Amino acid sequence: MTILKLNLDHTLISEQALALMMEKTKVAFMSLREKTCVGGQTHTGWFDWPRQQGFKLIREIEAYFQEHPVNYDSVVVIGIGGSYNGTRAVEQALNHSFGHELGSGYKPIYYLGQHLSETQTLELFDLLAEKNPIVITVSKSGRTLEPSLGFRLAKAFLAARYPKGYAERVLIVTEDSNASTLKRLAEREGFGLFYLPKDVGGRYSVLSAVGILPLFYAGYPVHQLMNGAHLFFDSLHKEDWQKSPALELASLRQLYWDQGKRVDLIAISEPKLQSFCEWWKQLFGESEGKRDKGLLPSSLVYPTDLHSMGQYLQEGVNQMIETFLSFDRYESVPTGLVERRLRVPFLSDNSDGLSYLEGKNLSEINQAAFSAAIFAHASRGVPCPHIQVAQLDAFSLGYLFAFFQTVCAVSGLLLEVNPFDQPGVETYKQKMYELLEQN
Ligand code: PA5
Repeated sequence: MTILKLNLDHTLISEQALALMMEKTKVAFMSLREKTCVGGQTHTGWFDWPRQQGFKLIREIEAYFQEHPVNYDSVVVIGIGGSYNGTRAVEQALNHSFGHELGSGYKPIYYLGQHLSETQTLELFDLLAEKNPIVITVSKSGRTLEPSLGFRLAKAFLAARYPKGYAERVLIVTEDSNASTLKRLAEREGFGLFYLPKDVGGRYSVLSAVGILPLFYAGYPVHQLMNGAHLFFDSLHKEDWQKSPALELASLRQLYWDQGKRVDLIAISEPKLQSFCEWWKQLFGESEGKRDKGLLPSSLVYPTDLHSMGQYLQEGVNQMIETFLSFDRYESVPTGLVERRLRVPFLSDNSDGLSYLEGKNLSEINQAAFSAAIFAHASRGVPCPHIQVAQLDAFSLGYLFAFFQTVCAVSGLLLEVNPFDQPGVETYKQKMYELLEQN
């Protein structure tokens, strides 16, 4: 079963150059698989996660759910960075775009703790006053300021809303460490508690309880996500692992870096993948951006951005590569696998001049715009590797999470940075604490 193909037609890299780099990449990959790379013993628990822990985790969550029945209609996720990006990516990609309004069958997920906007937080509590939510607070360290603050506010809300007690509607995901304030709080107050293993970093954690717990409670098909990821990791243990598109993409990124490229733009033609792009940006930005190195990750939604950033891509400073991501088929909610088509209707007088499009699906036209962008940008020297996925569904999303995590780790190793730490994030935190204590 081919879930994903890497189309190399517009990579602007010769076969020989790629083959040469692949030799280095295989060595880097083996150091990841054998856990001998930097952070290998301490930060690679996400590799092969479904087989090692993922399926077991789902069983544990299912059992907890059965044993702790609670009446709820929505899920609030409190977390920042890797503690919420993956959940939002899955929710946006799989839910109906207007699922909250139409009632798609999935419970709505609301987010808190990613920003410090007083207005938006107040507005969220306005909404929650009409809801019957459960609250899932996710923080690996268990003491990050933004989500900790969000949780304090959420607890005040819950205490007022449920005066007889609210512990049954609070779940915590954190590390099993005494340094985690959240862990202590959960034990003291009797909140549900799930652990994120020490060797899984935030941005590599979507398939751990960090993503799986809230997605399960909101009704998403977490088994399929895990199965997709499992299939990808499994492919890296097969005889032909050396031909993996993940290793090819990591090789290409390093070749582009060596050529002087400095920006990697992920380009999509499906707005429902915008949050997936945010997940992708965090993964690559935090993993590679260190020691004055790393392609700056950014994202584009086509055709929208062809009318703004398209100009820059065509004639601006050529320091970019574009990673195109497309799906042959998009699962439509709530009709599931029954494909719905939207064709351009017939108009007898052709008053809008669009008769030449009559009978075509919107997807065909979208695809034409996407292909034209690849052609136009590659022809001015922007390399365009193109990831083509069979279908947008939970299975392929799981596959893609595992795929990009592997590409990112290997690419970081080739760049000779530690793809698993984020020392730079601390600088702002220290300054912020200083400022808050001063005032
Ligand atoms: O990838 C990472 O490690 C970070 O982005 C973290 O996910 C983010 O800083 C949140 O940290 P924590 O989960 O400890 O609250």
